[in-house]
Amino acid sequence: MSAVTTSFAETAADGIREPVIELVDARKTYRTGEIEFEALRGIDLQVTEGEYVAIMGPSGSGKSTLMNILGCLDVLTTGSYRLGGEDVEQLSEADLARVRNRQIGFVFQQFHLLPTLSAWRNVELPMVYGQVAKAERRERAEAALTRVGLGDRLDNRPGELSGGQQQRVAVARALAGEPTMILADEPTGNLDSASTADVLGLFDELHEAGRTIVLITHELEVAQRARRIVFVRDGRITSDEQVREVAA
Ligand SMILES: Nc1ncnc2c1ncn2[C@@H]1O[C@H](COP(=O)(O)OP(=O)(O)OP(=O)(O)O)[C@@H](O)[C@H]1O
Ligand SMILES: [Mg+2]
Repeated sequence: MSAVTTSFAETAADGIREPVIELVDARKTYRTGEIEFEALRGIDLQVTEGEYVAIMGPSGSGKSTLMNILGCLDVLTTGSYRLGGEDVEQLSEADLARVRNRQIGFVFQQFHLLPTLSAWRNVELPMVYGQVAKAERRERAEAALTRVGLGDRLDNRPGELSGGQQQRVAVARALAGEPTMILADEPTGNLDSASTADVLGLFDELHEAGRTIVLITHELEVAQRARRIVFVRDGRITSDEQVREVAA
């Protein structure tokens, strides 16, 4: 498979769908004692509903910093961030936690599953915090696991599943809360090539079903599965391109 890219500006003018992410002149400065380091240096980024975007960049370029901001795990030093139309910079800690729980489904490199809980219990857990009724939690967990092809592994613990299956449980957990977007940080970083193909295939399906996906990766092959690639370097966006698959 090969891919060609076109400038994002050429194709982003449809203007019909709602923006999910709106970052304007986003800056993040870390302070370590006397030393300050500006990890994000004026990022402008819009992601609309249903987009599948990969964020790429070398080590230290600011990807995880950006992911933490997008995921409401940290706040900007200056600039603004609107998520699903809500001005995140104005929110209290408690409200941030609520927004995080309701709007974002996280998928991490290390699956972050609880080893003592079965697959469906793991998927159910965020809904416990989200105050979803018990019967509905079970139903939604089963549906999400079936969706990722693990309907026959509901009662298996993470240790009884392959790496790819564990990551699919994590994707099911991200989906079960019906979030505004899926935010994945190096989701294939710990997977062999077969499991990587498996998880990326799942992301393709989710994209086709209209989900908004933001995927952070340093692997070009993974990024090219998205429909748009944003390159970050030294805390700035250096390019923003649509990906179009072409016949090999
Ligand atoms: N808590 C922190 N305190 C101080 N500096 C930090 C902190 N977190 C990150 N940095 C610095 O900010 C810059 C961006 O870091 P970040 O973790 O976002 O990079 P990254 O693109 O995710 O890199 P990698 O691909 O290695 O994960 C780096 O120079 C890093 O040293
Ligand atoms: Mg990182």
